[in-house]
Amino acid sequence: MKSILATLLGASALFVSAPAFADGPEMPSQARMCGTCHNYEPGGRPKMGPELTGVFGRTAGTMEGFNYSPAMANSGIVWDAETLDAYLANPRTNIPGNRMSFAGIRDEAQRAAVIEWLEYVTTPAAE
Ligand code: HEC
Repeated sequence: MKSILATLLGASALFVSAPAFADGPEMPSQARMCGTCHNYEPGGRPKMGPELTGVFGRTAGTMEGFNYSPAMANSGIVWDAETLDAYLANPRTNIPGNRMSFAGIRDEAQRAAVIEWLEYVTTPAAE
């Protein structure tokens, strides 16, 4: 009992002391997977997937120099928090035939955290 309480207290202390987005959100653990296939720094090169800098507001499948699937290129989707949420929940069914072999993030809160982080790291800072 005592150890459970200590664990709970420890966990809440950790939560409270987590950086409060001072310099942008921390990378959520689910976002580590994105980085195996995507770069998201300005000037980064495409990996297995397209480079994601500036992806917010971009029409899907239009990053120059990347060989998209016809499904992605013809989807007509414009990426924003809402369209990314639907895509990342289940990439396979959201755009049937697209080539991103990623199972998706089922948990809504985890998706929201990844999208918030993604917007932060892919939006070039205003000068
Ligand atoms: C296994 C590799 C892989 C992983 C992991 C992966 N992606 Fe992708 N992603 C791709 C590929 C390949 C495409 C292009 C798909 C196509 O053309 O059909 C893509 C496309 C995209 C696009 C559309 C980009 C555009 O220019 O229209 C977005 C947005 C995206 N991924 C976000 C993510 C995020 C966020 C994650 C992590 C949660 C992630 N991806 C994880 C391989 C991956």
